[in-house]
Amino acid sequence: MSQTSQSSPRILVIHGPNLNLLGRREPEIYGRTTLDEINSRLTTLGAQLGLALDTFQSNHEGAIVDRIQQAAGVYDGLIINAAAFTHTSIAIRDALAMLKVPVIEVHLSNIHRREPFRHTSMTAGVVTGQILGLGAAGYALALQGLAEMIRPAVTLV
Ligand code: DQA
Repeated sequence: MSQTSQSSPRILVIHGPNLNLLGRREPEIYGRTTLDEINSRLTTLGAQLGLALDTFQSNHEGAIVDRIQQAAGVYDGLIINAAAFTHTSIAIRDALAMLKVPVIEVHLSNIHRREPFRHTSMTAGVVTGQILGLGAAGYALALQGLAEMIRPAVTLV
């Protein structure tokens, strides 16, 4: 099993509004896994893949923009579920567009099977890829995808 060290590539995971309530919030849509469980599974998987992980959740658009700006030059990849801001935030899109590292957009639900206002993602055009509709497992798959891009020699499969 790989371990993280000071030189391990760094990944930032950003969770948008209302995702702090995962597990309790509309579980028939978003599942019963809590945000803490998602973050701790990702941290464990990151260690196996030799990636150091930081996580951040905010209900505030500007705080997410600030965090993305601070990520430039620090992180080697990003995972973001901007939640409702996905559909509205040109500011988050513009901040992501400045990054030079791979970014994976994750949604627990398949936004294209839901209400029409969820079918548009402001961020889709500036991210490397999207994972939708696979529930909490989508985050782990996003991390494996990033590992493949960043450290192709050490991925699990
Ligand atoms: C979501 C989908 C969004 O439409 C919604 O506003 C969310 C969560 C998802 O993960 O499925 O809060 O991003």
